[in-house]
Amino acid sequence: MVDVLLGLQWGDEGKGKIVDFLASKYDIIARFQGGPNAGHTLYVNGKKVVLHTLPSGIFQSNCKNLIGNGVVIDPIVLKKEIETVIEDCPDLLSRLYISSRAHLILPTHKALDAASETAKGKEKIGSTLKGIGPAYMDKTGRNGLRIGDILSADFSEKYEKIKFKHIQLLNQYDFKIDWQQWEFSFFEAINYIKSLQIINAEYWINNELNNGKKVLAEGAQGSMLDIDFGTYPYVTSSNTIAAGVCNGLGIAPSKIGEVYGITKAYCTRVGSGPFPTELDNETGEQLRKAGNEFGATTGRPRRCGWIDLVALKYVIMLSGVTKLIITKADVLDSFNTVKVAYSYKINEVETTELPFDLCEGNFEPQYKEFNEWGMPISTCKDFSELPQVFKEYCIFVEQYLGVKIDYISNGTGREQLIKKN
Ligand code: GDP
Ligand code: IMO
Ligand code: MG
Repeated sequence: MVDVLLGLQWGDEGKGKIVDFLASKYDIIARFQGGPNAGHTLYVNGKKVVLHTLPSGIFQSNCKNLIGNGVVIDPIVLKKEIETVIEDCPDLLSRLYISSRAHLILPTHKALDAASETAKGKEKIGSTLKGIGPAYMDKTGRNGLRIGDILSADFSEKYEKIKFKHIQLLNQYDFKIDWQQWEFSFFEAINYIKSLQIINAEYWINNELNNGKKVLAEGAQGSMLDIDFGTYPYVTSSNTIAAGVCNGLGIAPSKIGEVYGITKAYCTRVGSGPFPTELDNETGEQLRKAGNEFGATTGRPRRCGWIDLVALKYVIMLSGVTKLIITKADVLDSFNTVKVAYSYKINEVETTELPFDLCEGNFEPQYKEFNEWGMPISTCKDFSELPQVFKEYCIFVEQYLGVKIDYISNGTGREQLIKKN
């Protein structure tokens, strides 16, 4: 069976920590979409590690790790990441597999990302500038280069051909981006990656499944950044919902088992785009401080707001979430009031349906308020020890969303997780 783990908001829900925790129950952890725009934080023996391309199962010695065909890979980032973690993970290379069908992010993709964002001015997406959009554009435009191509004798020619196209595109902008600075490291990294286990991953994973192995598919980004259902155009360029798992790994829908959905007890977003429950005020600042809300990939301050049940219910429907995990509950310890959005008012009409275009912003979230917890959550070890108000908060969230909470995370540490059901 393939269980799935997804972020249900705009990313950074704490997926890395939860995958690292759950990994001991699985044989394989597989990334199925996204690329180095992701930043998944784990603590290994008290040391902070941020993973961008590697699956978050690498620190569990029982786990094989797959970078699936749906992922876009920047060889420079991947090489650097392996070099960073190899000391704590000496057998990593024997447990790491890469799909030959995964697409490559080229130096000129990063330049095109930067050029497109600069040209958009005020309307910029707030991209991580990792080349994600241009790499996926070349994939769907049928121009892309794949990991399998690096093993062919004419890789350099293929590279030059697409580079030429990119240069023509870049010449249309009236500013210059120095992509050549990355080219040497790119080829160095390509040579390095040739020595890794590049496989026909769709056969491999289906064989493993037929042999009874358990797979956890690790989502990157968040459901509200999904290319089809997110706050378009302020989204990423892949399908971040559960449907992306089948495309991104080459497995049949019938193989999907549990779908874990992760949400913070509040909400954050990095980059531009609508955010209905955003707190652009002191309370938002308090959330940012208490939650240390700064991007794991870019270091940018994250925008903060209250949890939005309207948006959560929408994405839970899209992915068929079966188990909820609430993270960063401890961050709300210091708040006198905690709010939960349960509907939007649009032109005086109340609705629990997400409108087509959240960018129009003509709506007002309606909130239920909870009093302060009255005691810190971070030291609790069992659900029974949690403050009564927080338990009521959990029950309200569960009933509204129609999905049971499986775990509550109350700190950054691997052990700071409380089983609910
Ligand atoms: P991801 O992209 O979903 O893996 O999340 P990030 O790693 O980008 O951001 C989540 C941040 O919250 C990281 O710094 C984690 O260490 C931290 N974190 C995760 N769970 C908790 C929690 O329950 N409480 C607190 N205080 N921090 C947490
Ligand atoms: P993890 O996996 C939060 C956001 C960017 C930008 C938009 C498009 O750590 O949760 P892109 O680089 O994909 O073209 O950027 O998506 N974004 C993320 N926000 N967490 C992420 O990943 C993100 N990956 C992309 O900030 O608004
Ligand atoms: Mg992140």
